[in-house]
Amino acid sequence: MTQNFQETLYPLYTLLIAGLTAILIVIGCERQPTHPRQPIDFSHKVHVTDYKIDCEYCHSGVRSGPVAGIPSVQTCMGCHQLVAATEPEIMKLREIWERGEPIRWKRVNVVADFVYFNHYPHVSEGISCETCHGDVGQKDELLPTPHLHSMTWCVDCHNTYEASKDCMICHR
Ligand code: HEC
Ligand code: HEC
Ligand code: HEC
Ligand code: HEC
Ligand code: HEC
Repeated sequence: MTQNFQETLYPLYTLLIAGLTAILIVIGCERQPTHPRQPIDFSHKVHVTDYKIDCEYCHSGVRSGPVAGIPSVQTCMGCHQLVAATEPEIMKLREIWERGEPIRWKRVNVVADFVYFNHYPHVSEGISCETCHGDVGQKDELLPTPHLHSMTWCVDCHNTYEASKDCMICHR
């Protein structure tokens, strides 16, 4: 009797193991970093290197204050109502624009709250974007730049330029 009972359970065990394996494979795949991680597959390389669009056309805040700013959907559509209008990623962009929504870009670099940074004094000294952000214009996808989070990096350059190292300029 017990013998028979175990025999009937055997195929059930096999099914259970197969099922668990399938679930683990699915979970494993979802853990893989998905490319691109941004809502629209935006490439700096295409815009900056191939089509020579200036950084400040899109990040116009750098001359007026702390924040460089991310361009609005309207700025994108200024070109993309016509340019590449039938490409899938641009159709996605158009749908977002028609719904009147912002694009939910994921921040790449987030410096701690207790640090005050301001683009304006740096850009007005003639320090290039590349000095701090690297070769953004060559990249299809941006990844975080660890040195932006390093006090030593900031302070070393302030030394070189004889800029202020008063704690209060960066920690208000
Ligand atoms: C056509 C518009 C456009 C141009 C031109 C452009 N960018 Fe961007 N930039 C974006 C958009 C959109 C994002 C947000 C998506 C992303 O992170 O890739 C972004 C993100 C960034 C970020 C990351 C921001 C963060 O979240 O930390 C940096 C740094 C940056 N750009 C620097 C530059 C530099 C430097 C140049 C010139 C070499 C440049 N960009 C030219 C549109 C542009
Ligand atoms: C000044 C004009 C201009 C602006 C502003 C601009 N783009 Fe573009 N974009 C282009 C050009 C030119 C191409 C290349 C089109 C091609 O290869 O056919 C392009 C290509 C693209 C592509 C790839 C399309 C494809 O072929 O699959 C995407 C996605 C894209 N842009 C998104 C954006 C987003 C998002 C913004 C706003 C943050 C933006 N663009 C702002 C001119 C612009
Ligand atoms: C002296 C170094 C330095 C220079 C030069 C610089 N940046 Fe930045 N940038 C930073 C730091 C640090 C952050 C992160 C600030 C934060 O999270 O508060 C940042 C953040 C950004 C961001 C995302 C947040 C925002 O401010 O909108 C963009 C976009 C950006 N920079 C674009 C540019 C562009 C374009 C230029 C050139 C015109 C430039 N940066 C020049 C250091 C620099
Ligand atoms: C490539 C060199 C360089 C790097 C890197 C750099 N700075 Fe600066 N910083 C300067 C220069 C040059 C000035 C302008 C000094 C002046 O106007 O007298 C400045 C000015 C400033 C100011 C304004 C000071 C004032 O008197 O109002 C702040 C705030 C600041 N930097 C913060 C930072 C922070 C935070 C970082 C790192 C995330 C950083 N800087 C990285 C060169 C640099
Ligand atoms: C030019 C800008 C700048 C100046 C000047 C500066 N700091 Fe910082 N500080 C930073 C940055 C950037 C970080 C790293 C933030 C992060 O982790 O994202 C930091 C981090 C820190 C931390 C956190 C611990 C750590 O090491 O990450 C402390 C504490 C600190 N600073 C104290 C000071 C004191 C005290 C002074 C004056 C002697 C000073 N700072 C001057 C930019 C500056």
